[in-house]
Amino acid sequence: MPDTSEFPPGHARRRTTGPDWWRQAAVYQIYPRSFADANGDGVGDLRGALSRVEYLGTLGVDAVWLSPFYPSQLNDGGYDVDDYRDIDPVIGTLDDFDALVEALHERGIKVIVDIVPNHSSDRHEWFQEALEAGRGSDARDRYIFREGRGEGGELPPTDWLALFGGPAWTRVDDGQWYLHLFTSHQPDWNWDREDVREDFLRTLRFWGDRGVDGFRVDVAMGMAKDLSEPLPPWSQIAPGLAILKGSIFDDPFAEGAHPLFDRDEVHDIYAGWREVFDRYDPPLFGVAEAWVRPHRRVRYASPEGLGQAFNFDLLTAPWNAKAVRSIVQHNLDLAAQSGSSSTWVFSNHDVVRHATRLALPEGADPRRIPPLESAAVALGLQRATAATMLSFALPGSAYLYQGEELGLPEVTELPAEHWQDPMARLDDGIAITRDGCRVPLPWTSDGPSFGFGDHAPHLPQPEWFGSLSAHDQSTDAASTLSLYRSALQLRRQLQCEETAVWLDLGGDVLAFSRANGWTSITNFGTPPVALPPGRVLLSSLPLTPEGLLPGNSTVWLDASTTIR
Ligand code: GLC
Repeated sequence: MPDTSEFPPGHARRRTTGPDWWRQAAVYQIYPRSFADANGDGVGDLRGALSRVEYLGTLGVDAVWLSPFYPSQLNDGGYDVDDYRDIDPVIGTLDDFDALVEALHERGIKVIVDIVPNHSSDRHEWFQEALEAGRGSDARDRYIFREGRGEGGELPPTDWLALFGGPAWTRVDDGQWYLHLFTSHQPDWNWDREDVREDFLRTLRFWGDRGVDGFRVDVAMGMAKDLSEPLPPWSQIAPGLAILKGSIFDDPFAEGAHPLFDRDEVHDIYAGWREVFDRYDPPLFGVAEAWVRPHRRVRYASPEGLGQAFNFDLLTAPWNAKAVRSIVQHNLDLAAQSGSSSTWVFSNHDVVRHATRLALPEGADPRRIPPLESAAVALGLQRATAATMLSFALPGSAYLYQGEELGLPEVTELPAEHWQDPMARLDDGIAITRDGCRVPLPWTSDGPSFGFGDHAPHLPQPEWFGSLSAHDQSTDAASTLSLYRSALQLRRQLQCEETAVWLDLGGDVLAFSRANGWTSITNFGTPPVALPPGRVLLSSLPLTPEGLLPGNSTVWLDASTTIR
């Protein structure tokens, strides 16, 4: 267990209050339908989350980000929103929401909600109105409707593909087609419309008035579109979108001029949002999910914009000190340019959990998980906790995903008949689905759903899930949960100004010190390495009997007396 008693008292500064609380926060993402189920229907709910506020407080997170809880037919895990200002009855009520916010705030935990502005669901009142009102109507203009090609308009307006596969246009009864960049149940909004803009401002105020502290902005690089005729073919559009798949090809469009994504005009929308944010005290903030070239994140993260942007670079980082250092340095530089702080993400509801990803051989496709030997599973967890501790020590915000504090690996054995993800598919016999990181959490080691609720959960848990339960881990000082708790508690006490100085310790080692001497050292290699002087505060694996740092682990030192 860490001993912080001797750390100089001046270091015990909390950054969770005041207008800048978010700059170095540890933010815990809750995927509500899979977190905790209070009413026993197999689906997580807000009352369930309320019953776990104590757990979150003990864990030591500064904020909670709630993935969508809005009424939804769940064609895309809730990112298909029927009504932006209500709660899905399966998840709870607005009263439940208020109770959750109040309880979190009482524990000093801020609340961030997900907002999905690129598209609604096809059950949204305005989309239903658009269908009824017919072609050429004002109601239809709130979305993106076009006539088809071919003699009878039987061909879609363009050959564009949706990001989840299939055509990006769907035909309605009267023959017109509407654009959807994701599933056909997620029609894209027309952000040229003043009433669409106004309605989103109203939504921001609605949640702001209910006490939320910020927003996670879904597909933040969408919304502004140039759909002037002639519309370009998919072959021209696709290269600029390749970044969504983790690669960048030569994009024929100039920066900021791609017809669908990351257009410069999107920032006019965020300037309007900022006006709303700044009317609150402290101001609200937003974190952009913007899949754009790294240097383009700067504008989304600026104080005139949303305030912060995710950097997903560590999701594809190879396991070596050099690569991680260059990603970290680059992002610290970008954060400095934007006037924001950096973000660090290893897991979320869209990617394979990092305990599993980091078990894969170098160069392997991170979405395709072959059956793993138990030695690889153990290695993955060692690397995951080492990576997490590294990110906790960096200047900026750490975004955690529910269950990673239990060391949960990806569930790869979900039977296909249970898949919910619209992207789910078999590729050469290997399941590719985001459902494997969305399986309901194991709270206890037994019971019908390992303490998630008292009914079979909406996504089946594997038998071994109970062995990773929060309950058992909370009393085991050597568990992943205990490590997270210690690390988060220390992180809060040690947090200081947003700078870091690299230390060169040779080998496959990444080491840096914060201004107060808080030093983090990660051994990416296998042979144990010697440590510089300093008192050990916490390590992700026990040091060797000789006091060396084992491979695939991170240690934090108090080097305040030796580094200065
Ligand atoms: C974001 C969400 C993802 C969703 C997509 C479409 O990327 O994180 O879960 O499928 O947007 O809304």
